[in-house]
Parts: sequence; C-alpha cells; structure tokens
Amino acid sequence: MTTTSKPLTRRAWANAIAQPATEFPSTPLPILSGKIPEGLRGSLYRNGPARLERGGVRVGHWFDGDGAILAVHFTDAGATGLYRYVQTSGYQDECEKDEFLYSNYGMTAAGHIWQRWGKPVKNAANTSVLILPDKLLALWEGGNPHALDLDTLETKGTDNLTQLGERAPFSAHPKIDPKTGEIFNFGVAAGLNATLKVYKSDSTGKIIQQVSVPLEGLPLVHDFVLAGQYLVFFVPPVRVNLLTAGLGLSSYSDAMEWQSDRATQIIILDRETLALVSRGETEPWFQWHFSNGYVDTDGSIAIDFVRYPDFQTNQYLKQVATGQTRTKAKGTLWHARLNPQTGKVTQLVELLDRACEFPVVPPQVVGQASTDIYLSVYRDGVDISQELLGAIARFNPKTDRLAIADLGENCYPCEPLYAADALNPQQGWVLTVVYDGNSDRSEIVVFDSDALDEEPVCRVGLPSVIPHSFHGKWKPA
Ligand SMILES: [Fe+2]
Repeated sequence: MTTTSKPLTRRAWANAIAQPATEFPSTPLPILSGKIPEGLRGSLYRNGPARLERGGVRVGHWFDGDGAILAVHFTDAGATGLYRYVQTSGYQDECEKDEFLYSNYGMTAAGHIWQRWGKPVKNAANTSVLILPDKLLALWEGGNPHALDLDTLETKGTDNLTQLGERAPFSAHPKIDPKTGEIFNFGVAAGLNATLKVYKSDSTGKIIQQVSVPLEGLPLVHDFVLAGQYLVFFVPPVRVNLLTAGLGLSSYSDAMEWQSDRATQIIILDRETLALVSRGETEPWFQWHFSNGYVDTDGSIAIDFVRYPDFQTNQYLKQVATGQTRTKAKGTLWHARLNPQTGKVTQLVELLDRACEFPVVPPQVVGQASTDIYLSVYRDGVDISQELLGAIARFNPKTDRLAIADLGENCYPCEPLYAADALNPQQGWVLTVVYDGNSDRSEIVVFDSDALDEEPVCRVGLPSVIPHSFHGKWKPA
C-alpha cells in the first residue's frame, strides 16, 4: 500500500505555499540569535517554485510553480537579502492575463484540446541556480537557463551559453569540477526516442564541447554524476507516454509510466572526450538525486544516491501542490559500485534506512572521494505520506554517525548547503532556509558543519515567507 487510510490533516508546511510568495528588494536582515561567523563571507542563492496559484487555479504539480530566487549576502556589515521572481516570458504573459496560459510539467495548457496543440511548455526557471563569474543562471531542466544579475537578480533573458539551441534543455544539476572549473551538464531532448545531450563548459559557462547519446523512449533523467574521469547517468524505467502527452491530452507528469519490467540503464562517458565508455543495465529503481561519485583506488566507480523502489515519489510531489499529501514515497541513501569498462553494477547496498532527499557534499570534493553527506530527512516518528522533509542531517557512511538538526515541530529547513569558512579551511558552515510554521515566517539558519545536532550558530530573519525551495548554491566572497 502506498496510500494511507489515515484521515488527512492539513500540516503546517502547507501554509508556506498557500499564497504566492511576496518579493522583497535588497533589505538588511535582522540577527535573531547568535552571530554571523567571521569566516562566513559570500552569497547564498536559492531557487524554488514560488507561485502555485493564479486566478484561483492551482498548478497541477509542485514542479509547475514559477521560480523565484532568494539571494542572501553575508558581508562585514551584516546580512542583506532580496527575493525576486524570474521574469520568464511565460510568467510575464500570465501576469498580464492573470491566468495560467501554458502547459507545464504537471498541467496542460488552457483551452480546448485543439487550442493546446503546438503551444510551448512554460519555462518555469524554478529548480536551481548556476553561479558564473558575471551572472547567475536560473535553471530548469526542460529548456534554456535564464540569466540574472548577481546583485539585483534582474532577469536578463534566456541564455544559450553560446551553443544551446532554442528551447534546448540544460538540466538543473550541472557539476563543477573543483580542480579545473569545468562545468558538465546534460539535457534530455524529447522525441519518440529521446536524446541525451551532454555538455562541457569552461568556467564562464560557455559550452566548448557537446555530444548526443541516443535513449530508448522518453525517460526522466533529473541528475547525473561526475566521478573522476567519468560522467555517469542512471536512466530509470520511467517513460513518457507520448500519445497522450504529445497530443496535449495529459501533462508530462501524468503521462509518465513506471515500467517495472524495464531495467535501470547505466551510461558511462569519458569526461575528456565525452565518448561513450560503456552501457549497462541493472534492477529497476528511481532516483532524483545523487550526492557524489568518485573513482576508487581499485578503479571502480563509487556513487551515493537516494533510491526509491518505484515512481510513487512523483505522485507525492504532485500532491504537495494541493497542500495535502497522502502518498508514501520513501527514498533512502544507497551506495553503488560500477565497473566502468562494462557498465555493470558490482555492489549495491543501502547506507541508511531513513527517508531522505537532497543529498549534497561540499563543492570542493565533487567528483572526488568524499565521506560526509549532508541531506534532508524527515523528523523522527512523522507520517512521511503527509509530512514534508522537516530536518537536515550529516551522515558519515564509514562510522554510520547521523547528526540531525531538528528545529522542532512545524519547522521545515530546506536542502542543506555547505559553505567553507574563508579564514579557516578546516571549518565549514551549513546553511538552510527554514519555514517556521509556528510563526508563519522564514529565516536563514547557520550551523557549524561539525555540530548539526547542537544549537545553530546564527539565525537571520527574512522579511517574507520563502516557500519550500528545491536547490541552491553558495558563492564564496
Ligand atoms: Fe533536483
């Protein structure tokens, strides 16, 4: 059973997304407790769906909300924050008419079926950010990124990174090699048989190399892994039924089919040449996110990720947009070992039997051996079919130590982000944006990365509620 029979109750998390979020201009932020660490200097950027309703109509899926960016700058003078919607053309059109006009991941376009044909999908620009030297990109996996001013968050328009075709997908999970500054990313170009586009950019974002890898059907690939000299993709057995989605009869989300008789496909590319190294298959599962990957001393590829037994997670995330969820979708942390030459899985073990998501590692170890994983977890004892992720944690798979930062009932921290201390390389901080459902306010909370289970070192107030966001990045000063 994946659906609970318990009575549904409206939980505190729903209040954060009940109303469209309110923008605010650059504002000095009050310190609520503690002190901003002297070595915490830089900017936090986060992206997430901020508007889930228009003209009295709710979106079809949490992923459909218009993206808004929160920026928080930490300087010697204190913290300032600003929050602005990404001004996509679809957002502007819908603002003008005050109604939803376009199709999206989880909703079909307005109007009768014959009016939907050929109507573009709205670029929601709501999933993550990529920080480049001269701009911030708001990412959405179905299209081009949008470029924003790093200071004012003013939207400059879509950005093709000199090579992307019009509407070409550029996913929300690029990987930056901390040694070379190269940026790797991908996009799934739709088609009867889709194409996996893989991109390599220089440190300015300019695409310098790209390849196309054929896929079977139209699968959902959300994230990938940079592991040493390899790029690794797990293609789960989810396929879009193009008959219904292509004709506009149902949304992409509703046209996705979990095909449990299919394998999870493994695609391994060489990061230098982007050439195919191997393809393999393994048992069916679904994953949204990887925490990291690396090549071990024996030559095997090691990968940690959050694994689901099926695609019920999409149903749960769809229900989030309604303010009440009722589907149990438990993703847990797994470790996989691969032989890069054959694409075969040589080991597959569960690291932590606890529902979690948003696993990340410090940016300086991406693609290299790493130990500690920062992630979002559910609070102890809650009904995960009705609740939202309510705590953050650090997990060490070698020692099994799990340090949890639980801010109490009705408090919802988002994906934890690691920020290295500018003065002491041994020191790190973990930043999260918390929605406090008790006071209906949002705040930034900073923890010592070595002491997540102790009091936060600092809490900074925000002037308006920031809806639960998906992903962000830290930009050192
Ligand atoms: Fe993601």
